[in-house]
Amino acid sequence: MEDNFKLGTEVDLKESLTTKWQAPSNIALVKYWGKHGVQLPANPSISFTLDACRTITSVHARKGSHSFSIRYEGVEKPEFAPKIKAYFERISSYCPWINNYYFEIDTQNTFPHSSGIASSASSMAALSACVMDFESTLTGNALDYHKMSFLARLGSGSACRSLQGEAVLWGEHNDTDGSSNLYGIDQSELLHPVFQHFQDTILLVDKGEKVVSSTVGHDLMNNHAYARARFEQAHENLTTLKKALKAGDLKTFIKITESEALTLHAMMMTSHPYFILMKPNTLSIIEEIWAFRKNTDVPVCFTLDAGANVHMLYPSEHKMSVDQLIHNKLAKYCQNSHYICDQIGTGAKKC
Ligand code: DP6
Repeated sequence: MEDNFKLGTEVDLKESLTTKWQAPSNIALVKYWGKHGVQLPANPSISFTLDACRTITSVHARKGSHSFSIRYEGVEKPEFAPKIKAYFERISSYCPWINNYYFEIDTQNTFPHSSGIASSASSMAALSACVMDFESTLTGNALDYHKMSFLARLGSGSACRSLQGEAVLWGEHNDTDGSSNLYGIDQSELLHPVFQHFQDTILLVDKGEKVVSSTVGHDLMNNHAYARARFEQAHENLTTLKKALKAGDLKTFIKITESEALTLHAMMMTSHPYFILMKPNTLSIIEEIWAFRKNTDVPVCFTLDAGANVHMLYPSEHKMSVDQLIHNKLAKYCQNSHYICDQIGTGAKKC
């Protein structure tokens, strides 16, 4: 299967190539936690693509021996190099032409660098979009979004869900035709109108570096006492969630989304070594959201990544009342009262 992504045609090498793409972050509803082989997920996941939180990457490629430079906001960033080096090594058998180019990569994020928001998804997606744009120029073939997602996955698993579509599913799932462990597939057509312009307000409880890197985190699922049950549950949750997305069933959406977030954290609390990645303020926010939902019937819920920040998900028609809740009660739990307003977006775009 992987071999399908190996470039079959000869390319006509050009002296130089330039492009610029932006790709968004995404927020998982059914979580990817656990991997094997070369970036293969232990269970299928699904996410909403975000809009405002994006990485913008420009790449200039010059014919010559393969290497690269990496700048963030115009400043050389040698600390980013190992991840990009590993990425180029992983993709080189699928895009052999990269070995004939030196790449100058310049990147920036629309969200603050130290916001505790993972940038690996948006950055690996943006870089993969640039690489595939070059490949399309060199081969004359149309842009291949499946291969773009395939390459992004080799950089960071969740990145493969940041390329195309408002909702993206990644990982083999019996109830989803065309699903694959190798790339994400666009599930936008699933979304009931209630999810159109769905909001994600990210409450920044902890803007620090990740306590547990994703590599360490995924590894904790190997030999985890509850791993097998968790992976099975993800399949079932995905089936239930897809039905809810289609029917516009917010009650079920909330039930699965919140349970997935808490399960992700429960997995980390019950692994060896164990971690608590929530902060007291994370719990305070969750309690406030539950109380608000009970008192007002506004269908707002939360999800969490592998950290302390809280993503509040809700239909856009409730934006005003949720804004008020944040202003009156939740901002005080955020570092420097910071939060980011985002919503569902459509994926990577050429700039
Ligand atoms: C908790 O995609 O960051 O956000 O493949 O090692 O780069 P790597 O992991 P990464 O893991 C993301 C995990 C998560 C859940 C999710 O996005 O599905």
